[in-house]
Amino acid sequence: MAAPTSSATPEATLATQAWWKRAVVYQVYPRSFSDANGDGIGDLRGLIDRIDYLAWLGIDVIWLSPVYPSPQDDNGYDISDYRDIDPLFGSLADFDELIEKMHAHDMRLLMDLVVNHTSDEHPWFIESRSSRNNPKRDWYYWRDRKADGSAPNNWQSRFSGSAWEHDEATDQSYLHLFSRKQPDLNWENPELRGAVYDMMRWWLDRGVDGFRMDVINFISKVDGLPDATGTGPSSDGRQHYIHGPRLLEFLSEMRREVFDGRDKVLLTVGETPQAIVDHATALTDEKSGALNMVFQFAHMQVDQIGATRWAPTALELPKLKAVMGHWQDGLAVAGWNSLYFNNHDQPRALSRWGNTSRYHVQSAKAIATILHMHRGTPYVYQGEEIGMTNPELKTVDDLLDIQSRNYYLSRMAADPAQDSEALMRIVRPMARDNARSPVQWDAGTNAGFTTGTPWMAINPNYKTINVETEKADPNSVLHHYRHLIALRHENDVIAYGSSTLEALDDPQLYIIIRALGDQRAVMLANVSSEPAMVDGAAYASAGLNLVSSNYEDSPRQPEAVKTLRPWEALVFLSPAR
Ligand code: GLC
Ligand code: CA
Repeated sequence: MAAPTSSATPEATLATQAWWKRAVVYQVYPRSFSDANGDGIGDLRGLIDRIDYLAWLGIDVIWLSPVYPSPQDDNGYDISDYRDIDPLFGSLADFDELIEKMHAHDMRLLMDLVVNHTSDEHPWFIESRSSRNNPKRDWYYWRDRKADGSAPNNWQSRFSGSAWEHDEATDQSYLHLFSRKQPDLNWENPELRGAVYDMMRWWLDRGVDGFRMDVINFISKVDGLPDATGTGPSSDGRQHYIHGPRLLEFLSEMRREVFDGRDKVLLTVGETPQAIVDHATALTDEKSGALNMVFQFAHMQVDQIGATRWAPTALELPKLKAVMGHWQDGLAVAGWNSLYFNNHDQPRALSRWGNTSRYHVQSAKAIATILHMHRGTPYVYQGEEIGMTNPELKTVDDLLDIQSRNYYLSRMAADPAQDSEALMRIVRPMARDNARSPVQWDAGTNAGFTTGTPWMAINPNYKTINVETEKADPNSVLHHYRHLIALRHENDVIAYGSSTLEALDDPQLYIIIRALGDQRAVMLANVSSEPAMVDGAAYASAGLNLVSSNYEDSPRQPEAVKTLRPWEALVFLSPAR
């Protein structure tokens, strides 16, 4: 990565130019990434073999979704041993080799830290459930049922049904905000916290460069675990555990116990569903915050009625811009944004917001350009860089994810006479399965993902959408991502500059102005399949030249832009002086 240049102005002092602010992170969901041993499931060896590819792409950091031993109830987000690798994925020796190879390429590795809950097969939980007076009883939330025999409170699991499971052995129930096999850890217990910090230090000593922290804003629950009140999304209890009373205290303690005093600069990113700007500022303020950045979700809900996953509706662009702009403004001074449109829990943004039938390449490039021109650290989810799309999920048999399956099955159970296809129409567009079809590496058997039987069907479009084909084509989506990543690395204004969204009410245009000293970057994009009128001259300034486009003959200067073609996305940049 280029060192900060002398054009840096006071608004971007050295203190604010941490390496991770000009970095691009790539998320690997290991079971779907690359399978080296032919069992149909991606593994560490498969990832090691692809590091050269990610280095070519320009990736600085990999966030690796969980590879720890796990019963795989939630594909590894249910961990039964925090200090090992699941044999499904390889061994600790493979892991060490992965780190070594990445470091040789100047790449850094983030582990997925899942400490809101463990697996019910974790030895801590096995001990905890064994008796009411076991020393680890208090490491989890055990409560008596209410007098009428109902659950200790009315909280709902995020994977459908009550958040409590009754355990006959000791006649108490345990809390699980996710599946029954993911009991919540009790962060009120100092010994538990100490054990978590110890484990984190163990991974850092092994060479990892930071953590992505799973639902980290859920770890502090309100005292007494009161019943949820009200209707709508918060009726599931979330107001009693999102950004709870001791969250900042716990994370400051973690920072002190685990991160402070390490000689390399780590990267920490918290996953924070339902976070608002104030929460994010408190968590990521460079002076007082415990984390470097968070994943907020507001922009992932603009096309959902009532912010619930199972009520998808068409995207209205002004809503997306309003949310993105709100977060750009909100973290402009203190804190830092992560930027993402895709991850392993979201349908493919290209299928969701783009036009995969008529403008596959243009819309993939436009969506990428828009994301990468914001201020923040961009995350690329595996396969996004080649324009992968949602797979076909025909029936419930194609739903392999616990969340979509449980939702489907619980709705079916409530009304067995209903039309299953009508229910699938609700589940299909937003199912997490959409993100999880195997990465398409080439046009050969099983898209080069495995020599065996893939654990999940390969998307039939792999013959044209794959890494090998796109690497050979300079006009591909893949080359466009590589170019966007290089632009960020090479230009302070894109990494650090201020960011302003314009034309907020326009239903087609997405316009971003970046500024740093006298450097400017201007993005003009059309988020629709119809031409869009734009007064390019209004965005002209000295020295701006076209540096990125998704059409062959785009105007070289903004003043020449009067119309943007379907999904046309242009970036103009003034050179640093
Ligand atoms: C996070 C993960 C998701 C997982 C859940 C429970 O939201 O991204 O995949 O199911 O936490 O760990
Ligand atoms: Ca394998």
